[in-house]
Amino acid sequence: MIQKIGIITSGGDAPGMNAAIRSLVRSALYNNVECVGYYRGYQGLIEDDFKFLGLRDVSQRLGLGGTFLKSARSTDFFDIAYRKKALENLKSKGVQVLVVIGGNGSIKGASVFSNDFGFPVIGIPASIDNDIYATDHSIGFDTSLNTITNAIDKIRDTARSHNRLFFIEVMGRDCGNLAIHSGLATGACFIINPETEFQLEDLINRLDEGKYLHKTSSIVVVAEGNKYGNAYKIAEDVRKVYQDYEIKVSILGHLQRGGSPSASDRILASRLGMGAIEAIRINKFNIVVGIIKNEVRYSFIDDVVNEDHSVKNELLQINNVISR
Ligand code: F6P
Repeated sequence: MIQKIGIITSGGDAPGMNAAIRSLVRSALYNNVECVGYYRGYQGLIEDDFKFLGLRDVSQRLGLGGTFLKSARSTDFFDIAYRKKALENLKSKGVQVLVVIGGNGSIKGASVFSNDFGFPVIGIPASIDNDIYATDHSIGFDTSLNTITNAIDKIRDTARSHNRLFFIEVMGRDCGNLAIHSGLATGACFIINPETEFQLEDLINRLDEGKYLHKTSSIVVVAEGNKYGNAYKIAEDVRKVYQDYEIKVSILGHLQRGGSPSASDRILASRLGMGAIEAIRINKFNIVVGIIKNEVRYSFIDDVVNEDHSVKNELLQINNVISR
């Protein structure tokens, strides 16, 4: 039976990471498993920057954004010599399983680590991008989506007042989930996402159609990872051929990653944390814990890193019809 686990939060922080740590620690202690938290993700593992976590260390964390274990994108961890150092540090403390709370890159890191040394790992998907296979939603996506929706609603007030066209760029790395969901949630007339080929002409036709239908202002949501260019470039190219609107650009930036986690993210994080400890209890390792169709599911980590989380084209189709 496993008696000690290591916990890290890694990569871009996501609202609900603290809730996941809390759930892990409390579920682990309930099962007499000790927890060692490492600071700054894989970098803290390499530098042996740790703290034993007790029940009260995770008090008052549930509703806090960010991660109290801090996070980092460790480049040292790409080097096997540093990964060996991390392994020695884990072993010296008697840690038997490493739980990684993070996004795609962090879960890939865990998979490499377990393949290098046969060290058991468990991944908990946490990223605002919602780009991780093995779960319907990753921790942080819902909160970020709501933050973006609130921001776009505010921009819409001013767009409406001035009869303007706004290009709003949202995060998501190579994945269009934040753009597509926020576009639909805010009635954007057009959504530019990495998964769909973008033609300037289609956007111009859409704007013309809007004018014909007496629209006086419009919002276009641009995913940062789209292949055409950033929101400034798209706005510039539209300006060259379309003068009917005054055009403005807004890049929402890191505010999308902050804030108190939504109720959904707190619940998701609590379920995934306990799900990870349940996996350990039944000796299931090298997996990612997810929730699919409202059930906790375990997927092999090596499968997860080879798959992409798909986007729902249906949402784009709905938006096409109803956001005119
Ligand atoms: O993966 C989360 C994310 O916020 C992406 O949406 C974004 O592309 C990236 O991280 C930004 O990373 P950083 O904060 O390191 O610039």
